[in-house]
Amino acid sequence: MEHFPVINMEKLNGEERATTMEQIRDACENWGFFEILNHRIPHDFMDTVERLTKEHYKKCMEQRFKELVATKALQGLQAEVTDMDWESTFHLRHLPQSNISEVPDLSDEYRKVMKEFALKLEKLAEELLDLLCENLGLEKGYLKKAFHGTKGPTFGTKVANYPPCPTPDKIKGLRAHTDAGGIVLLLQDPQVSGLQLLKDGEWVDVPPLRHSIVINLGDQLEVITNGKYKSVEHRVVAQTDGACMSIASFYNPGSDAVIYPAPALLEKETDDGNKKVYPKFVFEDYMTLYAGMKFQAKEPRFKAMKARETTAPTATA
Ligand SMILES: [Fe+2]
Repeated sequence: MEHFPVINMEKLNGEERATTMEQIRDACENWGFFEILNHRIPHDFMDTVERLTKEHYKKCMEQRFKELVATKALQGLQAEVTDMDWESTFHLRHLPQSNISEVPDLSDEYRKVMKEFALKLEKLAEELLDLLCENLGLEKGYLKKAFHGTKGPTFGTKVANYPPCPTPDKIKGLRAHTDAGGIVLLLQDPQVSGLQLLKDGEWVDVPPLRHSIVINLGDQLEVITNGKYKSVEHRVVAQTDGACMSIASFYNPGSDAVIYPAPALLEKETDDGNKKVYPKFVFEDYMTLYAGMKFQAKEPRFKAMKARETTAPTATA
């Protein structure tokens, strides 16, 4: 088995730029996932994000999770649970408008730090999208523009904790799924990971590396690249001993952005006949569909959007 791709972003500035771009291309084409180091987000700042997130969990979330486990009788499970996850989460929205000031229970310091973290991640997401454009032979800014719609991209963060689980074989931390949106930037617990992706039919651990950021591609990038890049199934397995934290930030299209395969990529592909062409749709329609089908394979979602393309007038906008 090849190694999980770990990319040193610093090398993009030197002699090894071409090799590094090639590593990113390979990761996008064959893994849908990679981990980046030296991404210019200061390490001490990442440590602060981690510390505050763990403090917040202890103070405001842990008790609630224990009560949920008791109410739903998730302790000592005998049979597999397939309609719930062993996770404790809350969400923050940054774009098009931040809701951080309205999210309850956060300390002033945590609010301020998460706001700053989001700004750094937004910049990093846009840099990464441009690296993808370069590898794809699309003009700089193409993907950012494709995500824009009338209000700009949607950017949000899911803060999750996976408390120690007595029966990780009976209930997943987070059930297998692909991400619906654009590009995901994940700060995972440096001690324990639990994140796994499906590669050639096998679950592969995403290694926990201190101060790295894990990047993965969502369904929208699969559509825009017409399948050249793919969103990849992943899941979280909770640990029996010790909690693990995960902060995933989703840089997604705006709700009214119209998503479709980049014409420049189609021209190159259709030379050799009748290749499959991904659907064209409004992003929020995809999200409505995804809400009910998140834990199912993505292909039926693409198929359903394709079927609507011929009937819905919005799809030709
Ligand atoms: Fe995910």
